[in-house]
Amino acid sequence: MQLAQRLNRISEPQTIKMAKLGRELKAQGADIIDLSLGEPDFKTPAHICRAAAEAMEAGFTKYTPVVGYPELRQAIADKLKRDNGLSYTIDEIIVSTGAKQCLANAVLSIVNPGDEVIIPTPYWVTYSALVQLAEGTVKFIDCYIDTDYKLTADKLEAAISPATKLFIFSSPCNPTGSVYSKAELMALAEVFKCHPHVAIISDEIYEYINYVGKHESIAQFPELRDRVMVVNGMSKGFAMTGWRLGYMAGPKEIVQACEKMQGQFTSATSSITQRASIAALTGDLTPTHTMTASFKQRRDFVIGELQKMPGVEINMPEGAFYAFANISSFFGKTDGTTVINNDEDMSMYLLHTAHISTVNGTAFGNENCIRISFATSMEKLQEAMIRMAKALAALK
Ligand SMILES: Cc1ncc(COP(=O)(O)O)c(C=O)c1O
Repeated sequence: MQLAQRLNRISEPQTIKMAKLGRELKAQGADIIDLSLGEPDFKTPAHICRAAAEAMEAGFTKYTPVVGYPELRQAIADKLKRDNGLSYTIDEIIVSTGAKQCLANAVLSIVNPGDEVIIPTPYWVTYSALVQLAEGTVKFIDCYIDTDYKLTADKLEAAISPATKLFIFSSPCNPTGSVYSKAELMALAEVFKCHPHVAIISDEIYEYINYVGKHESIAQFPELRDRVMVVNGMSKGFAMTGWRLGYMAGPKEIVQACEKMQGQFTSATSSITQRASIAALTGDLTPTHTMTASFKQRRDFVIGELQKMPGVEINMPEGAFYAFANISSFFGKTDGTTVINNDEDMSMYLLHTAHISTVNGTAFGNENCIRISFATSMEKLQEAMIRMAKALAALK
């Protein structure tokens, strides 16, 4: 069978590949600590699970409108008002099978072959893959630790061209944990104001996992409102990765385009998940805040340990649950068996010698780093940091 050429434009996400490799080694008996996947280790809060059970009993088991139940979209509109000060009507909101599908819908609805899409690096793996599927051209803007891996207005200004159609970023950021402040977003907004042909996808899936205070959205600037798509979802803040619900708020015509796309691909996401998500969005946020407090404790521990490891350079993540460690000072070194020439060698070395699974930074557009997820128990993190320190110290 000759497979379609479009498959050559994308590859399996490194995050999933590393988790798979870790599982294979585990099956062979190795004691692997998985720090590769972006998944809270907590259970979904009980009141959300109860709402799902009640929904099934009440018969919410049929197809729903493609864009999601109106009650759910109203709950999302209320949440956007309550938490973000953003005003959206329910026909400016679409619910999808995960934030990932929102992103796919939006990119495929906006990008024509040859259109330029700007993505600041480090970035989440799926953004560029989606642009490549849409046959767009990705223009990366490299950002480094000196600006906490955040994009500055001057770099953005220099990158925008007449061919630029779209800009995609996340705050809090996967993989760096960087959080844009209101002032930083305002500086970017000033640039976008001068370039009305550029649409913006603002991925805010880690909104609730924020260690510095209030989440800020670039959609708050009125001049940008008619071209910003806010993407968010249940996976991270409510520990609902397996339930598959994301949502997007944006201009009505984009929402309608996404509805058309989604209507052919998947229709709506699960009716039961949608009912449970109403309970999550309108219910008590204490479990979410408790999880975030735990992530903060783990962040402080992991970053503290990484800072103690000679040769590792690390920023302080202000959100999400990843440490993005620069390990390039080890390139060219060896433990006597394995030579570390790049980030992939490092993640493989850590997997095979320390039995910790991480993801190489190239997958996120930075070849000097590895991503370490701290969304796992303190016990596992403590053991993982001991093993990592030992493995790095053995490199001469
Ligand atoms: C930055 C970012 N956006 C979107 C997603 C996708 O989330 P969902 O599970 O809702 O598809 C992820 C998941 O890892 C993510 O890290």
